[in-house]
Amino acid sequence: MARRTQAALYSEIDLELSWSEDQLPQVERTKHVHGLHPYLGKFIPQLVEVFLRRYFNPGDCVYDPFVGSGTTLVEANAFGATGIGCDVSAFNCLLTRVKTADYSLGALEMALRVAYEESRHLQGKVGDSLGTDWLQRWYAPMALRELLAYRAAAGQLDDPIREVAHVILSRSARSARLTTHFDLDFPRQPVTDAYYCHKHKRTCAPVEEASKFLRRYTSDTSERIRAFASLRTRAESLVLHEDSRAVRLPTRPSGIITSPPYPGLIDYHEQHRYAYELLGLVDRRLEEIGPASGGTGRSALAAYQDSMVGVLLNASEQMDSGAPVVVVVNDSRSLYPAILDRAGLRLEDVVTRHVNRRTCRRAGEFYESVLVCRVA
Ligand SMILES: C[S@@+](CC[C@H](N)C(=O)[O-])C[C@H]1O[C@@H](n2cnc3c(N)ncnc32)[C@H](O)[C@@H]1O
Repeated sequence: MARRTQAALYSEIDLELSWSEDQLPQVERTKHVHGLHPYLGKFIPQLVEVFLRRYFNPGDCVYDPFVGSGTTLVEANAFGATGIGCDVSAFNCLLTRVKTADYSLGALEMALRVAYEESRHLQGKVGDSLGTDWLQRWYAPMALRELLAYRAAAGQLDDPIREVAHVILSRSARSARLTTHFDLDFPRQPVTDAYYCHKHKRTCAPVEEASKFLRRYTSDTSERIRAFASLRTRAESLVLHEDSRAVRLPTRPSGIITSPPYPGLIDYHEQHRYAYELLGLVDRRLEEIGPASGGTGRSALAAYQDSMVGVLLNASEQMDSGAPVVVVVNDSRSLYPAILDRAGLRLEDVVTRHVNRRTCRRAGEFYESVLVCRVA
């Protein structure tokens, strides 16, 4: 069969991957552990399910060099494949570990309930002046006291349950920031006065407490982990907190499914700043590829391309020839043909996916490409 031209490859829209809101509502896109914590720039689990079925078999090893909130690893596990995920963001690694760990459910639920109750007792013992300057600026005094008390209670738990409590703490901290209801993704300044809320179409007041979120997310987290437990397989999931340009993988993956960062869009550390401040996580933001703060000037785009070539070459060297590499990206600047070429990947298929359900202030229709390549 004659090889299709690049233009022909790019012109196809894959209907199997272009779900409408009715076919795939929000509740399905954030099913079980996928909804443990909000995350910008996440791809949807159903996309990963399709690519696992198309290009992998149970028992394979799937690698995601930009594991983010862990979508690939969760789905790889449910599919029966080993998952290896790498990310330079400590919070994203924490989230992925929590989603993929195997728990004794009764012990987990009991310990989380006790941690919440214990945090209520500890509130009086947490001083007002505790917490970093950033925390003091972004939280009302009572909310901060409740978060710090919960942190102290979580500190009494052992891993992996302590890490689950850290995710509950982070999710609550995200909701309890002094920001408007409509600006949870990119809050600029703390908001301390009542404001007109574009989301609720009325006057709203900034959040003063965190306890209601801690309570709500304690039960929601237990339910989500329980729901995933019935789908979990015994396949292993491994999370590496490394820069994917240099990481050495413990085994040779069968292939890759990933959605890379794209230049000028999101600062992945800053997005979860509250978690870094509360948990004292290691900050490796200088190693982020294509951060929003780096802009989209010519040198930023060139640096992005060099970095992506580095990631893909590093991964290819650790995989066999012919291994599938599936890259989901909205390549509006056409940076990828050159990246794939320089990384020695053979482009086999490009499927264009219609995405019609972005929420909040980033709303609007757009198309996303899935580049299916093979290691040469
Ligand atoms: C688009 S997100 C991945 C989202 C993921 N597919 C999901 O569903 O959650 C890109 C990720 O790349 C990570 N990243 C950026 N630079 C990196 C680097 N040098 N090494 C490893 N990960 C990096 C970011 O921290 C972010 O989590």
